[in-house]
Formats: sequence, C-alpha cells, structure tokens
Amino acid sequence: MLELIAADLKKETIGTLLVPVCENRDIHDLKSISAIIKEAKKIQEFKGEADDELVLYHLPEIKAARVVFMGLGKADQVDAQSLRRLAGKGVKKCIHWGTSDVWIAAPSAAKLKMEPSSLLASLMEGAVLGNHIFDKYKNKKKLKPLKKIHLLAQPARVKELNRLPGRIQTLCDGTILARDWVNTPSNDKKPDQFARAIVALAKNEDLKVTVLNEKELAQKKFGALLAVAAGSENRPRLVLLEYAPRGAKKTIAFVGKGITFDSGGINLKSSSGLEGMKADMSGAAAVAALLLTVAKLKPAIRVIGAMPLVENMPSGAASRPGDIVKSYCGKTVEIGNTDAEGRLILIDAMSYVIEKYQPETLIDMATLTGACVVALGEKIAGVFSPHDNLAQTLVRSGEKTFERCWRLPLPEDYRDQLKSDMADISNVSSSRWGGAITGALFLSEFIQDTKWAHIDIAGPSYQKKENAYCGAGATGFGVRLLYDLLENL
Ligand code: BES
Ligand code: ZN
Ligand code: ZN
Repeated sequence: MLELIAADLKKETIGTLLVPVCENRDIHDLKSISAIIKEAKKIQEFKGEADDELVLYHLPEIKAARVVFMGLGKADQVDAQSLRRLAGKGVKKCIHWGTSDVWIAAPSAAKLKMEPSSLLASLMEGAVLGNHIFDKYKNKKKLKPLKKIHLLAQPARVKELNRLPGRIQTLCDGTILARDWVNTPSNDKKPDQFARAIVALAKNEDLKVTVLNEKELAQKKFGALLAVAAGSENRPRLVLLEYAPRGAKKTIAFVGKGITFDSGGINLKSSSGLEGMKADMSGAAAVAALLLTVAKLKPAIRVIGAMPLVENMPSGAASRPGDIVKSYCGKTVEIGNTDAEGRLILIDAMSYVIEKYQPETLIDMATLTGACVVALGEKIAGVFSPHDNLAQTLVRSGEKTFERCWRLPLPEDYRDQLKSDMADISNVSSSRWGGAITGALFLSEFIQDTKWAHIDIAGPSYQKKENAYCGAGATGFGVRLLYDLLENL
C-alpha cells in the first residue's frame, strides 16, 4: 500500500528512511533532511554521485532507526527515470533486510525543476514496481514484499495530490498482474485457463466479458486463428473485454497476441529459440491488464480489449507449411511458415473487432518478431503506423513512462515480398531481411480504414536479469504505456 504523507521526522517513529541526494546541490525543502545530508557528506566515500549509497543508523536529528542516503548525481540531470530507479533500488534493499515498510523523503520539485506530480509519481512507480516478487512456485518464500510505502512530502502537495497514490497503485497493479501472467509457465496457462483467469478478475469490474470457444470460433469462421490452434490439444479461446462508460464519444480497441506457448509448430524452433516462448502471450497479458486498469480508473472513452489465446504446437493435426486458410475477413493466406503464427491469430481478432465494435483507433501489441529485437535490442519496442500523429503520441507516451518505443517504417515497396502464387497473401516474406517490417505490413493488409498502430514487444516484454524496479522475467511492458496513450488520444 502506498501513502503520500506529511510527517514530522522528529516525532514519527520510522524504521528505514530513503533520502535522495545530489552531488552538487541541496534538493530538499525539509531542514532536518538537509541537515542529515550534510552529516552524510562528511563521510568520504559518499558524495551523492549516481548510485552512491550510504547507510547510517540512529542519527540524533530524526527518529529513524536507519537512513539510506542514495546518490542521484548532478541535480540538472535528475529525471523521472532516475527517481523510479532510486525508489526501486531502495525498496529492494529493504526487502532484502526484511523490513515491512519504508519511508521515502521526496525532494523538492522546484529545486529539481520538475512537475511535483511527475516527481512524486515517479518515486511511487519505482517503489511499487520494485516491490513485486514472483514466488508462487517456490516452496520457500525467502523474501517478502513491503506492506507499506510512505512517501514524505510537503503538506500542500499531500493535499493537492491526494488522488495520486491510488492512481499510481492501480497502474502498477496492472503492470504487476501482466508480469505474473507472463511469468506463469505454459502448463498453467493453457488458453482455457488463461481465459478463465482473465474472466475471474473482469467480472468483478465494470466490464462486459465475452469468451468465444472453439465451436463458436469455427462457426464464425476464424480460419487463420484456428489454423494455428490445430496442432494443440489445448483448444483456443478469444476473450473480449468492453469498457463502455455512458456518454463516451470515441472507441479505442486493443488486440494482444496471446500465444500461450510458441513451439514454432511444424516449423519447430531450435532449442535456443524455444527458450522464453511461454512469454509469447505478453501482448494479451498487457491488454487484459490494461482493461482491468481502465475499469478501475474510468477514463471517458470506450475501450475494447481482445485477446486471442492459442497454443502453437506441432502434431499430426497441425497446419503444414504450404497450407492455405481463409481468414475471418475472407482473404486467403498461404502459411509459408508455421512459426509466423502471431500475425495469423491477430488478423482474425483484428477483423472481428473492427466489424463488431467499429473503433476509431486500433492498436495491436505483440511479441511478433525476433527481427525487431535484432533492430532495437531488448529494451525498446518497435512502433509501426501509417498515421504520424498516432505514432508520435505513442513514442511520447513511451518517453513519459520509460516504456520506450521507436518508430519503424512501413515502406510500400516492401509489400510485394508478401505475395503468394497460390493465395491472396503469404504469412512470410520472400526476403530474409526486415522481418519486423514485413510482419507489420502483413497486419496492415487487414485493418481496412481504421486508424492503426502495431507495437512489437518481442524485446522489452521479458528480461533475463533483474533491473532497478523489475525482477528477472516478465516486465509487464505496455500497461502503463497504453494507459498513457489512452489519456492523450
Ligand atoms: N514469437 C516469435 C517472435 C519472438 C522471437 C518473440 C524472439 C520473442 C523473442 C514469433 O512467433 C516468431 O517465431 N517469429 C518468427 C517470424 C518468421 C518465421 C517470419 C521470427 O521472428 O523468426
Ligand atoms: Zn512463432
Ligand atoms: Zn510467436
């Protein structure tokens, strides 16, 4: 739980207090904090440089058992992300010490030339996201998340920003929910299980919930989606969530790739390629968590979330390379490669969403291509959109949330790489190169005149090593990004 509070450090009993420090300037308003920083800086090894840390115990000036001084470097270089990182690292330290709560002394926004709401939100985000531990499958739970995070601020700020802690907690809960789903192994999130997990949470919220099972998908002719599902004993689902506040004028729809395991199918992946493929439903996890977040924060816009959930497996019943299938919208697709399955489930879900909900804007989020990771590395998502405004808004939301996005092109003259001799289109390019682009171009053939963007999150959805405010494994990338987008459309 998160609280924004104005407390008297001489009276309040505090276990652990985190104090951000800059090397070149005093950045605090509270005199007692400035005074203990002065003392800390007398110790040679602590200068307040970025990532410097010093722990002092039982300082006479304040009633804290332990104070952690944390360096931020030069004051004019401090930004939202350095504050998130600081708070995340501080919280992790406390978790390792086994404390049950933490206090964070917020620096002065004026002295850092930041917006107060952005400064406090960043500290809150880092702290709450860093307080997540995925230990469901461990018999011995060695570490316990903190029960309470107190953010110390000026009384005026506490009053004017009284709704901020609730909002940030809800947004971070969404990110953490997505992480938990992605971290769950594929044997515990088969499409029907994952669908039920989403429904169990969605039915407590102001959301209309629809789940299409295999029979209904077949009746409605989801030919491309069913071709991917053919090889698995675990039957597919399409989950639809609708948030429709009264008076909403616009509709935005999100479609998330939900491959609960991607073996590659008959084009079976190599051993190293199979690694991490439980995370191939990261797009669906982000979209489902986003809709639960939307239902709690209640923006004045109609929001649709669609999660096609399918397992991609090889078997005697699986689709073969060369198979031709009829997609939901009627276009035929030659399956050149069964490992390019994400785009097949996405086009059917997107066509259905366009027909049923007629959104002004459609965003799909998918761990679509290894090529996007080659292009942008493991921390930045690729954004594709023919609409400059939408692409720019997404990139800006990425900068704000530090869920970074980089726009890549949709060159018209690459389209013919998707030509098929036998069907309307092939699901793979005739060229080895530019796979993230041709994947996006394939999707663009199915959006009609809807304003659309595609976000390839194959890189940033998962990380091998922990960082300042996220453990090893799923990052929950996309939830905070898409919520910010929603508010800026
Ligand atoms: N799920 C993969 C993409 C992926 C790769 C995600 C690495 C995360 C990390 C996707 O279904 C896939 O296999 N794409 C192929 C496409 C190719 C066959 C055209 C790829 O990227 O090689
Ligand atoms: Zn694949
Ligand atoms: Zn995949």
